[in-house]
Amino acid sequence: MKVAIIGADGQLGSDLVRVFSESHDVIPLTIQDMHVEDFEQVRTVLHKIKPDVILNTAAYHKVPDCETHQDLAWQVNCRGALNVAKAAEELQAINVYYSTDYVFDGLKNSPYIETDAPNPQSVYAATKLMGEYFTRNYSTKHFVIRVSGIYGKIPSLIKGDNFITAILKQVEAGKKEIRVVDDEILTPTPTLEIAMNTLPLIQTGAHGVYHMTSEGQCSWFEFTQVIFETLNIRTPLVRCSVMDFPSVVKRPQYSVLENANLKQIGMNRMSHWREGLIRFLNTNDG
Ligand SMILES: NC(=O)c1ccc[n+]([C@@H]2O[C@H](COP(=O)([O-])OP(=O)(O)OC[C@H]3O[C@@H](n4cnc5c(N)ncnc54)[C@H](OP(=O)(O)O)[C@@H]3O)[C@@H](O)[C@H]2O)c1
Repeated sequence: MKVAIIGADGQLGSDLVRVFSESHDVIPLTIQDMHVEDFEQVRTVLHKIKPDVILNTAAYHKVPDCETHQDLAWQVNCRGALNVAKAAEELQAINVYYSTDYVFDGLKNSPYIETDAPNPQSVYAATKLMGEYFTRNYSTKHFVIRVSGIYGKIPSLIKGDNFITAILKQVEAGKKEIRVVDDEILTPTPTLEIAMNTLPLIQTGAHGVYHMTSEGQCSWFEFTQVIFETLNIRTPLVRCSVMDFPSVVKRPQYSVLENANLKQIGMNRMSHWREGLIRFLNTNDG
């Protein structure tokens, strides 16, 4: 299989490159090769490659900045997804679009399944949802994979950090205490596991929308407790509320995803978040 990976130097993209390269012919694409919002570029580059599979990780996902740079969020997350989906359809390629737990409003209080109604609360979330629809409706062989709180060996390029590196930087800077919210509940997930589970999923031909997150649920505070225990960090950890960090953007306070569709096809091999985190910290990998 010839696999084109868009955003190949990103956090998730770099692990997709590693995993798919073991058994397939991978063509890594970065923003230097094409801007997803430019259809002619997308079409020219992808038609030249003629991939069997396109993995689209490109996103403008600095959530607060999407509120102030709405056009850019639209261009990358919506138009980009549409352009890739149209080119994928022309090539009859499998098209995989990575989306987010943020498409939900967070009011459910029990894990969201794929058929729950989305209700995005921010420009970022709304543009990602639109990207999902373009992927689903313009490319026949599509997979929309919703992930949550991802972390990998190479931290997010656009954000410069993932949650773990952001916390460790505060520790290294010698902060007297680290304050972390205990009322935002989710399922942080290592990118290596997402990459390893994407490969068998796309081989099923069971196109559709999938949640692909770690099992269980935790607050960012509980997640940080495990980081501190595992790395033997002694800096005091202080439990806070989202109310203590006023933000221009609404985030779902509960965005746990149930991997219901993966379970239905017998393909849910995601670890518990604690197990995935400890493995990542002990190996600096997933
Ligand atoms: N990070 C999270 O916690 C999280 C949570 C839920 C869902 N997601 C989704 O997961 C996916 C991967 O996230 P990530 O953390 O791996 O992101 P990342 O490290 O920032 O990687 C995104 C990649 O997309 C590329 N890109 C950005 N704009 C582009 C454009 N206009 N045209 C072509 N390529 C472009 C970036 O290249 P440059 O950096 O060179 O611009 C980068 O290689 C995204 O779709 C995101 O929405 C992330």
